[in-house]
Amino acid sequence: MNFNITTDNIAEIKSDLEIIIVIDKDLKHRFVADRKLLKKAGFSGGQNELCHLIEKNRLYVGADSLKGDGVRPAVAAATRSLIGKKAYKTIKIATYLSHPRCTASLRAVVEGIVLGSYSFTTYKSEKVKSSIKKVEISLEGYNELEITPESAARAVHNGEISANATNFTRDIVNTTPDDCYPKVMADIAQAMAKETGLKCKVLKPKELKKEKMETLLAVARASRHKPRVIHLAHKPKNPKAVISLVGKGLTYDSGGLSLKPADYMVTMKSDKSGGSAVLGIMKAISEMNLPVEVHGFVGAVENMIGGNAYKPDDVLTAKNGKTIEIRNTDAEGRLVLADTLCYAQQEVKADYLFDFATLTGACVVGVGHYTSGVMGNDDDIKSLVTYGAKSSGELATKLDFNPYLKKTIKSEIADVCNISNTRYGGAITAGQFLSEFIDNDHKDKWAHIDIAGPAFVEHAWGENPYGASGAGVRMTIRLIEKIVRTEGK
Ligand code: BES
Ligand code: ZN
Ligand code: ZN
Repeated sequence: MNFNITTDNIAEIKSDLEIIIVIDKDLKHRFVADRKLLKKAGFSGGQNELCHLIEKNRLYVGADSLKGDGVRPAVAAATRSLIGKKAYKTIKIATYLSHPRCTASLRAVVEGIVLGSYSFTTYKSEKVKSSIKKVEISLEGYNELEITPESAARAVHNGEISANATNFTRDIVNTTPDDCYPKVMADIAQAMAKETGLKCKVLKPKELKKEKMETLLAVARASRHKPRVIHLAHKPKNPKAVISLVGKGLTYDSGGLSLKPADYMVTMKSDKSGGSAVLGIMKAISEMNLPVEVHGFVGAVENMIGGNAYKPDDVLTAKNGKTIEIRNTDAEGRLVLADTLCYAQQEVKADYLFDFATLTGACVVGVGHYTSGVMGNDDDIKSLVTYGAKSSGELATKLDFNPYLKKTIKSEIADVCNISNTRYGGAITAGQFLSEFIDNDHKDKWAHIDIAGPAFVEHAWGENPYGASGAGVRMTIRLIEKIVRTEGK
């Protein structure tokens, strides 16, 4: 898809279709040219409501506001309605701004178009795809607020990169466990690194053993697919900060011997969403060439059953020497992350450390399936994550640690237990388990983001169709952009 910014009057641009966003529910605004027709069609301008005037080549879509959260899903709904319609190869859209000189809405429009055009067709005989090849954006504003061509170009460029990275992550997550296992994830990382210029190192079982990543290896043991740890690096000269990202890459989570019930196992191909988000974020950071050093680590493992599976009652030793009593093999993500976090901290002394994981069903129960849970020891770092979410149209909320819940993961026979002794607060106790594997240097630099809710969408919402959403990608790009703006000031 090709975006072109022009100062031409919107009416003069040739295209197959114009997308028009309507925030004025009364349709009284002088730019709503087809007021009468829209009224006749019963269009009331509700969020994501569509009215396609086929003969006029105009597609109207309602939005509650011109802010990102209004226009991104609206434009995504409009472009999604064009999937499979071959007549629409070029579309045009005017510039909508919510504040003078603020390009956030323009970026959201671009993201909406790219995210809305996404379809996952790998396993379909008939590939129904978006036909949009070219998007013309007129700088002529519908609300007469000013914008410079340079800032518009930057917004369009960054919007394209972050939405394409989100779609890249969606593709990985949507791929079936038989087609995307740890080696394949590593191959995807290596191919992407080659394309973008990132450095990429892949650790195989022999190296993982050498690194004493015994908990990760134990989870992987019963699978015919051997584990991998992936390390990607973006290293510009004179970086403003050093950032490490760590992702849970469970290419399948059957639960292991603490086997999941049948209904809960379906969709567990999405347990690689955290690792896949890290791959998407690394791709975007490299394409945006941001002046920060960013490292991406992925623990790619499959959790299966078998005669050599790890067991409830085992005690495992993590890379940092802490012993873990296993009471449930379905709480495997925290074990894989424990070793991957230790490895990441050993390899890189970071100013910021974020981990992403579909870690707990409890997080989904607690905050709903639209929202990620943000945990950590330091409030400022959690605020940075919720800022990233808010400004990118993702939803994330803080879940605070407390010393009482911490006690519930104590073990009688080892340093810590892999599950809590209470049914409640499972997202937080999982986060507090991870905190056992954060060293003193990184204690206040770390945030854990539980994306179990939004990572996989069973009923389309917002800018997300059925399937993987790419949760974590846009919010993290935004927060890294903020680090770039504020570091060294
Ligand atoms: N991958 C799951 C968590 C999950 C659940 C992700 C639903 C996405 C949707 C994780 O490995 C898991 O199974 N966690 C257990 C932990 C429990 C055994 C303490 C859970 O949440 O039930
Ligand atoms: Zn599990
Ligand atoms: Zn899992």
